[in-house]
Order: sequence, then structure tokens, then C-alpha cells
Amino acid sequence: MIPSSVPLVVVAADRLNLAAGRELARSLGLAFLGPGVAAQNITPFILSLSGEGLALLSSEGHFGAIVCDFTGGRIRHRYHHGGGVGQAIARAAGIKHTSELLIADLTAGLGEDAFVLAGLGARVVMVERHPVVAALLEDGLRRARQESSNVGIRAAVERMSLVAADARIWLATADQPDVICLDPMFPERHKSALVRKEMQVLQRLVGADHDGDELLELALERAQYRVVVKRARHAAPLAGREPTFAVTGKTTRFDVYSLRKLPSSVE
Ligand SMILES: C[S@@+](CC[C@H](N)C(=O)[O-])C[C@H]1O[C@@H](n2cnc3c(N)ncnc32)[C@H](O)[C@@H]1O
Repeated sequence: MIPSSVPLVVVAADRLNLAAGRELARSLGLAFLGPGVAAQNITPFILSLSGEGLALLSSEGHFGAIVCDFTGGRIRHRYHHGGGVGQAIARAAGIKHTSELLIADLTAGLGEDAFVLAGLGARVVMVERHPVVAALLEDGLRRARQESSNVGIRAAVERMSLVAADARIWLATADQPDVICLDPMFPERHKSALVRKEMQVLQRLVGADHDGDELLELALERAQYRVVVKRARHAAPLAGREPTFAVTGKTTRFDVYSLRKLPSSVE
């Protein structure tokens, strides 16, 4: 079942993807439409499967296709020119040198933050509970593993794994992560002009995450060294809990809850 009020159908963009599209629709509990049907007349949100992969299309607000793409565009640019271990998220997670930290990103979304951390050497377990977001993420990982000609990017996605589950349940049985990252969706993000269109569509699909406070408490019980919470720059800290310290970027702040000193080889 899709935990969302947004109407959504799966569409196979061509005959080659009929069987796979039908199977995806079945696994997500969604209606399926074959090629040639004008799905946009039926619903504003379409999950389209083509030879190029899985894309979330929305006719609302003139958004482009939303795909999980680790090999091109903004994510690739950030991989090459984002600032390496000097980036706010890397400093917050404690990666000062390429490290072997095991990081759990409990609110994976489309995996952008996770990819930055994996690109710097961490092993990252991504946990995502929304089945459509998890399907997009899985598709992005698969394509990057199969198609990327860049050795570094391929190695980074090999360090990433995906668990399609609610992190609150996953945490109870998972191996202890060194660092846990959280970035729950907040309703107030709607108001910010700085929010990328991609994130706005994701927001429509996923809705607000009302269990962020609970997730923080669980994360603080389970992480070995630290918990990192991504917030809008001026937002109050999650659960009203003051962090040990914060790393502030242009629009974002990373609140760091330090539990133990990181070993010097990774700090
Ligand atoms: C703001 S997005 C994260 C974006 C992500 N940081 C990135 O870089 O792409 C929040 C995501 O966390 C997921 N999420 C929220 N709470 C969760 C939970 N308890 N377990 C698993 N996923 C969760 C939502 O479904 C949503 O896709």
C-alpha cells in the first residue's frame, strides 16, 4: 500500500516494458496502464517505466521527470566539484579523511546525501519507507552500477545498499551503525522558494514525516558515535533537542549529536 493520498498509476512507456511495468504495479498495489493510454488525463502523477529506467512524472506545476540519477546532472557535478570532505554533511558525519564509517541514512529519499557520503568512502545503508521513492532509488542504484563508466561513481554506489522499510522497525534488528543521518520531510519546506522542484514533488507524494522526533530518540539509542540531523537553516532543532554542535551551510544546517568520540582515523 502506498502511504499517500496522491493518485498514482504505473505506465509502461513501450511494449518492451509491459511485463516489468505490470509486475511493478502489482508489487506497489497500483493500477497499471499500457503504452498509448493518455495517463495524464487520469491522474497528475505517473510512474513511468521505459528503457531509460523509472521516472515519476507529474503534470502538476510543470515539473520535469523525477528520476534517481547518480551518474549525471547535479549529483555528478557535486561528486566532482562539491568540496569533498569539506562539505557540511561530511564534516557533520565526521568524515575528515576517506573513512570506513558505517552510516545509516534513515530517511534516504532519492539518496543524494547518502551518495555524497558514499562518494567519500563511507558504507551507507539507506532506509526508505515510501515504496515509490524506494523503487526510484533502487532503479537509480541499478542503473549506476550497470551503466556508469566512472570508476569512482561505480565504487560509491557499490558502497550503498537499500532497505525498503520503516527505519523505526529496521533499527531494532540492524547492526549498530557508526553514524546515523536523519532528514525528515517537514511541511514548512513548502514555503521556501529555495526548495528544489524535485523535492516539492517528493513532498506531495510522501507528505510530512510526523515521526521525526521519535526517530531521533531511537537513533540516539542505536548510533555508535553520532547522530546527524539535517534541518532548514533557521528551523528549530528536531524534538527541541539542542545538538552538541551544528555545521551550517547556505540553506541547510546539520545538527550533530555526539555520543562518543570518533576514532582518530576517521575524525
Ligand atoms: C526529505 S526526504 C530525504 C532526502 C534525502 N536526504 C536526500 O538527500 O535525497 C525524507 C525521506 O525520508 C523518508 N522517511 C521519513 N521517515 C522515515 C522512516 N521512519 N523510515 C524510513 N524512511 C523514512 C520519507 O519517505 C522521505 O522519502
